[in-house]
Amino acid sequence: MAVHQNFQTVRLNYLSIPSVLLISKKPTQLKSPLAELKPTLVSLQNEASVKPITSKTTTKQHSFTITYLINSCGLSSESAISASQKVRFQSPERPDLVLALLENYGFSKIQISNLIRKRPVLLLANPENILLPKLEFFQSIGLSSCDLARTLSSDPTLLTRSLENQIIPSYDFLKSVLLSNEKIVSALKRTTWIFLEDPSKNLMPNVAFLRELGVPQKCVALLLTHFPEAVMQKHEDFCGIVREVKEIGFEPRKSMFVLAVHALSGKGNKSIWEKCFEVYKRWGWSKDDILTAFKKHPHSMMLSEKKIMKSMDYFVNKMGWPSRMIAQCPVVLFFSLERRIIPRCSVFQILLSKGLIKEDFSLTTVLLPVEKRFLERFVTKYQEEVPDLLSVYQGKVKFEGA
Ligand SMILES: *[C@@H]1O[C@H](CO)[C@@H](O)[C@H](O)[C@H]1NC(C)=O
Repeated sequence: MAVHQNFQTVRLNYLSIPSVLLISKKPTQLKSPLAELKPTLVSLQNEASVKPITSKTTTKQHSFTITYLINSCGLSSESAISASQKVRFQSPERPDLVLALLENYGFSKIQISNLIRKRPVLLLANPENILLPKLEFFQSIGLSSCDLARTLSSDPTLLTRSLENQIIPSYDFLKSVLLSNEKIVSALKRTTWIFLEDPSKNLMPNVAFLRELGVPQKCVALLLTHFPEAVMQKHEDFCGIVREVKEIGFEPRKSMFVLAVHALSGKGNKSIWEKCFEVYKRWGWSKDDILTAFKKHPHSMMLSEKKIMKSMDYFVNKMGWPSRMIAQCPVVLFFSLERRIIPRCSVFQILLSKGLIKEDFSLTTVLLPVEKRFLERFVTKYQEEVPDLLSVYQGKVKFEGA
């Protein structure tokens, strides 16, 4: 009987817990007073918390919350029901203030709705003491209001972290490496995780490792600004990649070194690297050819199979260039086939077929110069002899090959 009474008390306590507490404390934490009880009662208590329908208050809160999530936050009824598992309230007061604050900071309706769907508890966060200082902080380091709204609505976790214990220490570390707020903001826009992880875990040791190898400050900053996820990898994984890059023959003092680290970072990128390796082999490149291309342009190991196949097909099969020549100048693989390669190569072939230029013009002479220079050298110069040349270049007249 005593046990039964005890259970009732706990149950009543549970039902009378103010809604605010229900948000931050999961019902499971309320199990503790029952921990000594018999298993049957524990399971009864669980049932009570799983089915709050037994309580009128909770049901009312529940339906109020759902209605609010739909009408004021723009959630679908499905998302509202699922969000209402994480947040309950009976009055619009606090949530209204939160929404007003976000609107004030330039969040659109859709962004607010995304933010609330991902982190419904934020509706009950103290706008003045908890939310405002974080918004102000990110604005103060130069995140524009447009980027602020976009970044936080796609990952609102930042708003749930402590400014003093998490966000500011991360900022201090980033500032010590990147030196400028502008770069910190760039990195933040790539991943909010650089502000969510304890920097002493991976970031600091990884940066220290690069420095030990003699990677200059500006290259460390380059990697951290543009590819923060690479520097956030587990320390052992990161060191393994850095050593591999060094063994391939990259020079730590050059910026290619950190670009190569990026190309090999993470499972996804590593598998793209391997895919590229296999695709280049199909075109008769040796391992040395591939590593030559990688060293000249690390991102040539991050291209899609389709892009490589299309460009190589054009160079080798249409232009008749030796495949391995491309490995010496892999930058041409990045050019747009439609906008740069085809127009220029068409002009080149016409000039060649008319005997106006010699075969031994290298692909770099044709493809590398800026457009103005190319036009002067290959189009304007021959306008008298070949009046159609500009039209061919502009794709208005099709050149079908010699
Ligand atoms: C893999 O490459 C992509 C594209 O550059 C980049 O966004 C991502 O951060 C890289 N992954 C890692 C772990 O560095």
